[in-house]
Amino acid sequence: MRLSGANLWISITWKDSCPVDRRQRSIVKAGLQTHWWRISVTVALDAAGRIEEALEVLGALAVTRTDAGDSPQFDGAVPDQPRWALQSISGLFPPEADIPTLKAQLMAVGGAGTAPITEHFADQDWELSGRASFSPVRISDHLWVCPPWNRLPEAEDRVEVVITPGLAFGTGTHATTQLCLQQLERQMLRGRTVLDWGCGSGVLAVAALLLGAADATAVDLDPKALAASGENAVLNGVNDALSVCRPDEVNGHEQYDIVVANILAGTIMDLAPTLERHLAPNGILILSGILAVQTDRVQAAFAQYNLNLSHREEWACLCGSRIAS
Ligand SMILES: C[S@@+](CC[C@H](N)C(=O)[O-])C[C@H]1O[C@@H](n2cnc3c(N)ncnc32)[C@H](O)[C@@H]1O
Repeated sequence: MRLSGANLWISITWKDSCPVDRRQRSIVKAGLQTHWWRISVTVALDAAGRIEEALEVLGALAVTRTDAGDSPQFDGAVPDQPRWALQSISGLFPPEADIPTLKAQLMAVGGAGTAPITEHFADQDWELSGRASFSPVRISDHLWVCPPWNRLPEAEDRVEVVITPGLAFGTGTHATTQLCLQQLERQMLRGRTVLDWGCGSGVLAVAALLLGAADATAVDLDPKALAASGENAVLNGVNDALSVCRPDEVNGHEQYDIVVANILAGTIMDLAPTLERHLAPNGILILSGILAVQTDRVQAAFAQYNLNLSHREEWACLCGSRIAS
């Protein structure tokens, strides 16, 4: 997963048994895990790939890359290639890891001046600590996103989207998700069809269905996101109306009343012809994952649309329909 902002970019590659992975949580709960080690190395860009690879080969359960300097990177066509000049790369290791040997090997790979830092995390119930940090998120007077273990009391005019955090991006806490949800809520959704491209947890597609859409299609490259969307649809009782698929499985001729894409600006621009092809003639396009400074570029890629701009933090959302010819 990659998050980006003007001053902060974090890239995380979670491997099979990381603490937020459901398999690992069950191991932790079974009491088999007592603590974790994190080894971090700060290196220049040209050594970053080697260190990341070394951490993976040495058995890291998760590898994280962050900007260790101040060189904000705005996404391009290939958003998964961090180019920060100075990078901090860390690996998460199980308790039995041979830390002195790991450090020596990283120093050999990184060369002179490589100084691995080791941190120790005491045992904790990752599932419970994760749970504590997720509270209901208020999107508007009527719309909320809640984790399954922290539901709101029932209220007639409230729509509650129940999302299990940790399965995929889209818990309702990120500004771009909130902007898209607010735009969706403003549309006449009853009986409409919705395409959610880059569905993550499925939060947007599920919300659209709860708000009255007739059916929705949730699309993502990541199989975990597709599984999460399916699970979240079941949690909300809208699974009969949700189709979940990879981009190459979308029927090329199908058109939707609403097309929403909360991805990154570069990806959205690359996807412009695809998103336009799937939008019905009078349909509504909702785009986010765009930094405020990137809106002109995205607007130019959708020049035949009249797109209104909304903002939250450093993020932007564009929403509108095709200009009548
Ligand atoms: C920022 S998350 C948005 C999740 C959710 N829709 C939300 O609004 O919170 C972007 C998602 O887009 C997916 N993605 C990235 N590039 C994609 C592409 N070219 N086609 C389909 N999905 C893509 C990622 O795997 C990720 O799940």
